Amino acid sequence: MQIAILGRGVVGGGIVKLIDEAQTPLLQQIKIKKVLVHRSEQVLDSRHTTDFAEILNDPEISVVCECIGGLEPAHTYVKQALESGKHVVTANKKMLAVFAKELFDLARQKQLTLAYEASVGGGIPWIDNIKRIQRLEPVTAFQGIFNGTSNYILSQMEEKDLDFATCLKSAQKLGYAEKDPSDDIDGGDVCYKVCLSALTCFGQLADPSQVEQWGIRFLSQEDFAWAKEHGRTIKLLGIGRREAGGLSLQVLPVMLKKSSLLASVGLNFNGLQTESASLGQATFVGQGAGSLPTAHAAVQDLLDLAEGRGEAAADPQPGRLLAGPEQTFYLR
Ligand code: HSE
Repeated sequence: MQIAILGRGVVGGGIVKLIDEAQTPLLQQIKIKKVLVHRSEQVLDSRHTTDFAEILNDPEISVVCECIGGLEPAHTYVKQALESGKHVVTANKKMLAVFAKELFDLARQKQLTLAYEASVGGGIPWIDNIKRIQRLEPVTAFQGIFNGTSNYILSQMEEKDLDFATCLKSAQKLGYAEKDPSDDIDGGDVCYKVCLSALTCFGQLADPSQVEQWGIRFLSQEDFAWAKEHGRTIKLLGIGRREAGGLSLQVLPVMLKKSSLLASVGLNFNGLQTESASLGQATFVGQGAGSLPTAHAAVQDLLDLAEGRGEAAADPQPGRLLAGPEQTFYLR
């Protein structure tokens, strides 16, 4: 299977490394034919190109793996790749959440796979686990820590009694944060992931701009001191529930009891929970950000395609968003 990777940044670079250093016979079947890069990176690797048309017009490339991030040109490239009959694997939650209807419709019409494991939960097989549960029963709700950067910041603020700005800088240095970290700290990143999780769990599309979201920018060392005094910690959660009249989706910082499972999820880790009838509450924990964990998830999607286990996109229905409860911060 010959593929092209769009972008060789944190995630794209991780994918190149994992495939070039393939440890298993299955992974060795995947060959990177082209990597789309900026002009300045062109000379480093003979597979580099700055011309997306070279990828689009190459009939040997059957899969495009998009790791550019942001809305454009990622959206146009993914759309063109699907239109020209190529499967797409993407790590781009923002682009996919915003253009979900258009891209999933296109993939379905063309009977192509549009895989997005790497876009939610970093290295955790979150999308795959939801799909496994759904083979038996509906997932009725989900909740969790969806953003590694903000979790790292909150964990550092709590453990080291440091201020917000210092912790944000160190998260950026470690490569967890997006280029523009405002999505990480103001809840946007969680919002996109919640919309994609709702799509996977409930088969319903939600417009990310309509989901109420709160971030962590305003949290102070005093908030953590207060939480500690009351046996609690603060986590930024994404929450989704299917209700009789529609979808309830929330993004907000929550005071969690220190004894709760999610309270123990620190560093850049994500902790994601599903609820379903016979399994009850299931919790999935792993690195939610960073080069190799996220690359691992994208490569798993590529391996599904190499094994012939790609799937045509489902037909998501427009979801009706219910108003969230008034001010459910649980903060003082
Ligand atoms: N910036 C994101 C995070 C990367 O910190 O969770 C993974 O989606």
